[in-house]
Amino acid sequence: MSMSNFDKNKTEQAQPSLTNQAWGGRFNEPVDEFVARFTASVDFDQRLYRQDIQGSIAHAQMLTQANVLSTDERDQIIDGLQAIAAEIEAGTFDWSVGLEDVHMNIEAALTARIGNVGKKLHTGRSRNDQVATDIRLWLRDQIDMLKPLFTKLQQGMIELAAAESDTIMPGFTHLQTAQPVTFGHHLLAWNEMLERDFSRLNDCRARLNQSPLGAAALAGTTYPIDREFTAAQMGFDKPTENSLDSVSDRDFAIEFCAFASILMTHMSRMSEELVLWTSAQFQFISLPDRFCTGSSIMPQKKNPDVPELVRGKTGRVTGHLIALLTLMKSQPLAYNKDNQEDKEPLFDAVDTVRDCLRAFGDMIPAIESNKSSMYEAARRGFSTATDLADYLVGKGIAFRDSHEIVGKSVAYGVAENKDLSEMSLEELQQFSDHISADVFDVLTLEGSVAARNHIGGTAPMQVRAAASRALAQLACR
Ligand code: ARG
Repeated sequence: MSMSNFDKNKTEQAQPSLTNQAWGGRFNEPVDEFVARFTASVDFDQRLYRQDIQGSIAHAQMLTQANVLSTDERDQIIDGLQAIAAEIEAGTFDWSVGLEDVHMNIEAALTARIGNVGKKLHTGRSRNDQVATDIRLWLRDQIDMLKPLFTKLQQGMIELAAAESDTIMPGFTHLQTAQPVTFGHHLLAWNEMLERDFSRLNDCRARLNQSPLGAAALAGTTYPIDREFTAAQMGFDKPTENSLDSVSDRDFAIEFCAFASILMTHMSRMSEELVLWTSAQFQFISLPDRFCTGSSIMPQKKNPDVPELVRGKTGRVTGHLIALLTLMKSQPLAYNKDNQEDKEPLFDAVDTVRDCLRAFGDMIPAIESNKSSMYEAARRGFSTATDLADYLVGKGIAFRDSHEIVGKSVAYGVAENKDLSEMSLEELQQFSDHISADVFDVLTLEGSVAARNHIGGTAPMQVRAAASRALAQLACR
């Protein structure tokens, strides 16, 4: 918003109207210039223009059926609104801070364009139900734009998991080597997080898809409006139940930010692992150069900027959730101007999630695994110790005793710098005479992962089956 727009508008309005024409009737002096700027939202809520016009067209159609507008008046209004939409899209619309918000900017432009008929559009509605309608429509459109980004990312992730179903890597608890797993299994763990996030997004969409239009300022309106009609026109499932709640409710924005915060938390966990895995210490994977940047001083550096930034952006989205919860806390019914503060956090949460999903959708399928260093790392950490303990249980030893025997074998391996699978049969038999040559079937990494052969286990054949189930699920969306 340029200064000159604001000043021009203020001059125009100083005479004959004392202040904003939409509500200036009972005022004796113009609104303070700073206050006008402070209370305006047009700089950011102009983003709602398309939904504002969509809602106004539905409202005008309904007013015609209710005999408040003639069909000719309706057509003038709809043509005018469509011309305004085109102007906004062409970038030639003159937004004015003096007109406060997107709603009054468009209404004023309509009246300037078609004359007094434009002034009839606001019959039986208020900016309170108007803005509540606009944000729901906008968020619904944004959710529908996010869904394919989700599906693309999950598809790439699941396909990579299937391709990496035999790749062995260390699985960690406490970031210490625990048991061998397959890389495909690890990637499918990530996909589970995203699958739940997607279903939370769907829940949010289903709950928000009700029309507040007709609640008017807070109590409803005296005109014979048809809320079912406007709801259907705008693709809502039904009108909201209670006018007071309709104009004040922002749960849907909070719910979206809760979904977004959980998704970002998940992507930050993935990012953290990607950053670790690309390091010289792990060397589990590499990311193509196009997702990394260099250092201006250290020529050898290839930094995983994309996952680092996604991890960093998690903070701002969680911040927006807290901002909205705090915004709504203790607000009395019905509408309060506080609610104007709902938009910027919501807009930024949507933009951030969109960009992060897009970046991940491009980057994840491009991960290149370094199979030999994953395998070596799994071998180094006595990752098949549990398999040896389970083997001894199979030979009739109680688990607690077998745990003790394996503990001693590991201590020996640490002293001798040998993995369990590298010890000779004689070396292993020092710790238990129940150990025989078949022990090597379970001490290998391949034997260890293949043995976890049940739904949800890390065995390669289970990972392949899980990947096909996950892909089939995506296809049903
Ligand atoms: N710009 C306002 C908002 O975003 C629109 C509703 C204003 N209503 C009012 N009674 N002042 O919430």
